[in-house]
This record gives sequence, C-alpha cells and structure tokens, in this order.
Amino acid sequence: MPESPSVPSPTTVPFRDLHRLHRIHGDASRAALLAAVESREYTRPNPIIEEFERRWAAYCSVRHAIATTSGSAALLMVYMTLGIGPGDEIITVPNTFVATAEAALLLGATVRLADIDPLTHTVDQDSARKLFGPRTKAVVPFHAYGRLAEIDALTAEARAAGIPVVEEACQAHGAARDGRKAGAWGDCAVFSFGPTKVFAGMGEGGAVVTDDDELADKLRLLNTHGLEDRLHTALGFSFRIHPMEAAYLTARLEVLPALLTERRALAARYTEAFAPFGVVHNPRVADSEEHGLYVYVIDVPDRDAFCARLTDAGVGWDIHYRAALHQQPAHQERFRDAEVPACDERQGQIVSLPMINGLEEAEVAHVVDRVTDALDAVTRSAR
Ligand SMILES: Cc1ncc(COP(=O)(O)O)c(C=O)c1O
Repeated sequence: MPESPSVPSPTTVPFRDLHRLHRIHGDASRAALLAAVESREYTRPNPIIEEFERRWAAYCSVRHAIATTSGSAALLMVYMTLGIGPGDEIITVPNTFVATAEAALLLGATVRLADIDPLTHTVDQDSARKLFGPRTKAVVPFHAYGRLAEIDALTAEARAAGIPVVEEACQAHGAARDGRKAGAWGDCAVFSFGPTKVFAGMGEGGAVVTDDDELADKLRLLNTHGLEDRLHTALGFSFRIHPMEAAYLTARLEVLPALLTERRALAARYTEAFAPFGVVHNPRVADSEEHGLYVYVIDVPDRDAFCARLTDAGVGWDIHYRAALHQQPAHQERFRDAEVPACDERQGQIVSLPMINGLEEAEVAHVVDRVTDALDAVTRSAR
C-alpha cells in the first residue's frame, strides 16, 4: 500500500482569511437569505429584524437589542439618545477604533482620553475617574481586541455620579467574565457586525443592547427618524439594519459559539507557546474570563525586526492600530493635551497575529514555530 503523502508544511499563513470564515456557515446563510427574499418582508415593523434583535439580546443576556446599519451608526445613535452635544464630554481610551470618538465629535462634543492598563490594554480605571467632571455625559470603556475591560469600580462611580456607561463592545462578541457577557455590564453596549468581526455580517451591521426599558424605547425612536404614530417627535435618523443582513446574522449566530471555541483553543496554543518570552499578551486572561478574540495581540520590544522576521517566514501580521486616536493626523491637534503614557508605550509594540477559523494543524504549527523563532530573536537581543 502506498504511503499516504505527508501534509506539506505551509509556507505562508495570512493574517486573516475571511473566505474561510464565511465558508464555515455558507449553507445556513444561503438558506436564510433565500427565506428572507421569499418572505417579501421588507418594510417596518419587520419580523426578520425583530427576530434577530430578540436573539442577539438573548445571547447577551439583556432585554433589548436595537439593530443598526453599522457599529459606527450604533455609536452615533447612542450618543444622540443620551443627548450628547456641544459642551458635553465623553471619556474613552486612545487605542480604540476612531469611530468611538468620531461619533461624539460629529455631535460637537469633546472626547477626553483616559490611559490604558499596560497589561490588559483596557481602560485604567483611575485615569478615567480623574476625568469625571460636570460635563461628562458618558464613559465609553473599550473591550480591547475582544478582552472585557475591568470596569466594576468605574461603573459604580459613574452610576453614583449619574453618568451612563456605554460599553464599546464592537470587538467583543461573546466575551464574558464569570459568565456575564459583554453587553451586560454597562447601561448599554455597542456592537459592530462588520465583515472582519468574529460575529460578522455580509457587509455592514451593528446593534445597541440594553437592559433599560426606557433607554431602549428612546433608542428605537431615534433608530427611525424619531417617528411615532406617524409624527416625528424626536430628532433621529435612519440607522436601521437591512432585513437581509438581519436574516444572515440570525443564521450566523448559530455558529458563533463554535467559532469562539475554536479561536480560544488557538489562543491557548499561542499563549502557552509564547509565555516563556515574558511579553505582554492581551488575550492572557483568568480562568473566570472568556476572551472575544477579535484579534490576538502581543507586545514585542523591537516590533519592526519582529514583523520583518514574520514576513520572511510567511506569517501574516497586522497592527491594531498603527496610530492611537491622539496620534492620528486628523485628531492630533485636538488631543494634544492627552496624558496617556501607557498607551504611548504600548502603541509602538503591539502586533496582531493570525487568528483564523479553519486553520489546519500544519498551519497552526507553522505560526507557532515561526513566531517563537522571531520572539526568541527579538527578546534575546533586547536582554
Ligand atoms: C472598536 C470599534 N468601534 C467601532 C467600530 C465601527 O464599527 P463599524 O465598522 O461596524 O461601523 C469598529 C469596527 O471596526 C471597532 O472595531
């Protein structure tokens, strides 16, 4: 009997492979889309959208979800609903995606930047607390790369001061601590279902979730131009998700737990293999915690040399993000007084490694071996 051919070692593993991710539930999504087309349910109120909203709220263990066209739209809708405008301030961190701040800036508000904890990359609660003031209208902690921010003390203090906490959960689908998921910690939370997310739509999509009935009513009102009883009673806009996207997401929710399980197993392999090098891993979490693993981020001392080695070895990488908010060309000036030394230091060291559903064992081994070699080289020369 001829020997079975050995699996050739891969020469490259990309940073991301969305086609693999989307193939995983291709059949379910095709069926859901076809059913949505045949339902002819395109107007509102829309049962396809309502079904998705019910399921996403249940997944997050909260009472309400209001689906939107994108995560950015969800942020804008929340800030509008909280009445944020000129003269008001929101507090967030600089290592989040630009939309967290943009939505508030578009409303004429000021964004204050708190520093991050250098080990977790999420908000430093003391730094955020120092920014509280009479103009603070929201605290917006970012669950960085899918890791839940520790916000117990911050939330207690914000609540005592009557300041709402908006979880920036756009990267944190399914992240949890002590069984409590992202979305169930703040007064409300914002999610993105953009195409690169772990829980990704066909194109764009987002949602706000909340347990607060009154807030949910206001969010729904603003989601559709402030329309009630055929009259416009509030300033809103069209933030509504497309029913086809809602149908797709409802089908996709079935596979989210399996996608997360697979990513967590891959992250555990990485974390174990890279632990001896003593670098910071955002995904290294306590047993009581489950990471959302949008991206797997480590901090390395000589990033350029490390990344060059990965490129030569055929391992994809990326940086989330190349510049923090206060370093972005469009925003440097407005944030020139930001005091965020931990973020400044981390920003030059972060690297995102391949976090792909559907990797073959030989590919995982390739990434682990090549990253180990590169870490060995850069940490040895840093000693
Ligand atoms: C942290 C964060 N906030 C907001 C957004 C914006 O979401 P969307 O692309 O759905 O508008 C993203 C998406 O990349 C994000 O990662």
